[in-house]
Amino acid sequence: MGERKGFIVRISGPVVFAKGVEDIKLGEVVYVGEEGLLGEVVRVSRDYFAIQVYEDTSGLRPKEPVTATGKLLVAELGPGLLGRVFDGVQRPLEDIAALVGPFVRRGVKVPSLPRNKRWHFKPTVSRGEKLGPGDVIGVVQETPLIEHRVMVPPNLSGTVKEVAPEGDYTVEEPVVVLESNGTEIPLCMKQEWPVRQPRPYRERLPSDVPLLVGQRVLDTFFPVAKGGAGAIPGGFGTGKTVTLHKISMYSLSQIVVYIGCGERGNEIAEMLKEFPALKDPKTGRPIIERSIVIANTSNMPVSAREASIYMGITIAEYYRDQGYDVTLIADSTSRWAEAVREIAGRLGELPVERGYPAYLPDKIAEFYERGGRVKALGRPEREGSVTVLGAVSPPGGDFNEPVTIHTLRFVGTMWALDTDLAYRRHFPAVNWLRSFSQYADIVERWWVRNVAPDFPQYRRKALRLLTVASEIEAIASVVGESALPDDQRLILLASEIIKEGFLRQTALEGEDVFCKPEKQYWLLKMMIDFYDKAYELIKKRVSVEEIMRLPEIYEMMQVKEDERGLEAVKELYGRVMARLEEIAKRHGVTLESKAGVIAGA
Ligand SMILES: Nc1ncnc2c1ncn2[C@@H]1O[C@H](COP(=O)(O)OP(=O)(O)OP(=O)(O)O)[C@@H](O)[C@H]1O
Ligand SMILES: [Mg+2]
Repeated sequence: MGERKGFIVRISGPVVFAKGVEDIKLGEVVYVGEEGLLGEVVRVSRDYFAIQVYEDTSGLRPKEPVTATGKLLVAELGPGLLGRVFDGVQRPLEDIAALVGPFVRRGVKVPSLPRNKRWHFKPTVSRGEKLGPGDVIGVVQETPLIEHRVMVPPNLSGTVKEVAPEGDYTVEEPVVVLESNGTEIPLCMKQEWPVRQPRPYRERLPSDVPLLVGQRVLDTFFPVAKGGAGAIPGGFGTGKTVTLHKISMYSLSQIVVYIGCGERGNEIAEMLKEFPALKDPKTGRPIIERSIVIANTSNMPVSAREASIYMGITIAEYYRDQGYDVTLIADSTSRWAEAVREIAGRLGELPVERGYPAYLPDKIAEFYERGGRVKALGRPEREGSVTVLGAVSPPGGDFNEPVTIHTLRFVGTMWALDTDLAYRRHFPAVNWLRSFSQYADIVERWWVRNVAPDFPQYRRKALRLLTVASEIEAIASVVGESALPDDQRLILLASEIIKEGFLRQTALEGEDVFCKPEKQYWLLKMMIDFYDKAYELIKKRVSVEEIMRLPEIYEMMQVKEDERGLEAVKELYGRVMARLEEIAKRHGVTLESKAGVIAGA
């Protein structure tokens, strides 16, 4: 095939219309203009084709050349991804900076994986072995935290003809040669994968293990499963970014891919400053060593923002296939949807809802559906997962808009952030009445097995109590709290304890920044058992005021911060129960241990 060259006819912002390449394909990568700007064909019609250009198009002119490459937009995969920052089309940001200064200059081609770095490769196969897609051929210690498993690409198989001895190689040097039907296929540590196609796996596994993030309101009430999908919608400044940062830092996943999508550049910069200082709790290594950042900030080209989501998820799938639990975070998918909208508009698509094209829901579904827990292709057997978490920024905080509505159709968990809570500085501002988790019932089994058999009862009871409390609050706001019957006042008291002592949680350093499951359970048990016993006392004519005066009530709201951790909670639990027994004794009544009822339940 000779050089396939066409020329520009028209330029419309990030979209360029061209003609002159007869056999141009949808999705093909092209180089646009004299400078060779990177672009992808997004529309092919009889007379022309349209290209979304991943670099600033200002100064481009009609008649400038367009060169087709015959290749799809791919991610370059191999050792050298961890700890790095890329733009939306996987150009390493720091290397480009080193080359041309602080801004990404146009037409600069820098490989995603370093070409001159040597990695210590240990082969795990030998001559004569038959290999299939996904088989591990060797390992590389990519960072002190993560062993990189070099795999046969998903579309290849054959018999091992040669294996390189253990030693140091670049990502382009062959480390294994396969023979297949008389042809030799050299395999190196680098492989490519088209970003818009999900990577294949052997089988899907159920998402029944929680992805613990250490935030109580999320883990206990609205969990996300490993391999699940979650959305965090919230108005301006309600804490989407802070929550997602915390999850990327503290959640118990092995790898984090963080896509900063159309957000402020300084937020990413801040995060990158924080990351190296934070240590992995298990190994004491900086957590940047297990993270990959894709930064496509608000000042970068809008097309690259569209691509960044696919780039990120392809990289996440690649580590999933190695057998890791990966969390993929996209902040904010609304900015991404806006990029989709802008490009659709330039292409002359008919807008359907608030200017978004009719294919918006498909695009959103495509993204979240690439999450999952799977058995990977190849040997040795490996299980991995990609958990997808996306921030959604509905304009004006009104969830009744296309991106939020469609997102909620495709995710299993919603953490609904609430402007009122944020305003009152109740953080994380997760609204416990509007949020949901479809994984709750399934992951409860994990809690039952690993934490406590009666966890589900406590969880349900607490949620019920909070719901009833909100109804009572509505009445109390009219008649005044002191006009309420004692059992209702007790519900308000218990719900205050849960809100302050359980739901509220700091994002700053200290004991409470990551709350272990056992501690979550004991805090909740303490609050619910307190409620149950106090309820019994009230039914036996003890006044709610006597209970409200207990000094332990304040302590229940504060003990989460106690540096002694779980021990402090258990110790307080004992004292709270003893206190209630004392009151019972004083009134000459006996407390049964049976659970109390929630009025209205
Ligand atoms: N968990 C938290 N603990 C303490 N403060 C918080 C917490 N979450 C958010 N905040 C406060 O709220 C501010 C805004 O949070 P954040 O930037 O995460 O909001 P956002 O929803 O991402 O906003 P935007 O819509 O601008 O993207 C933070 O700077 C911080 O002061
Ligand atoms: Mg934000």
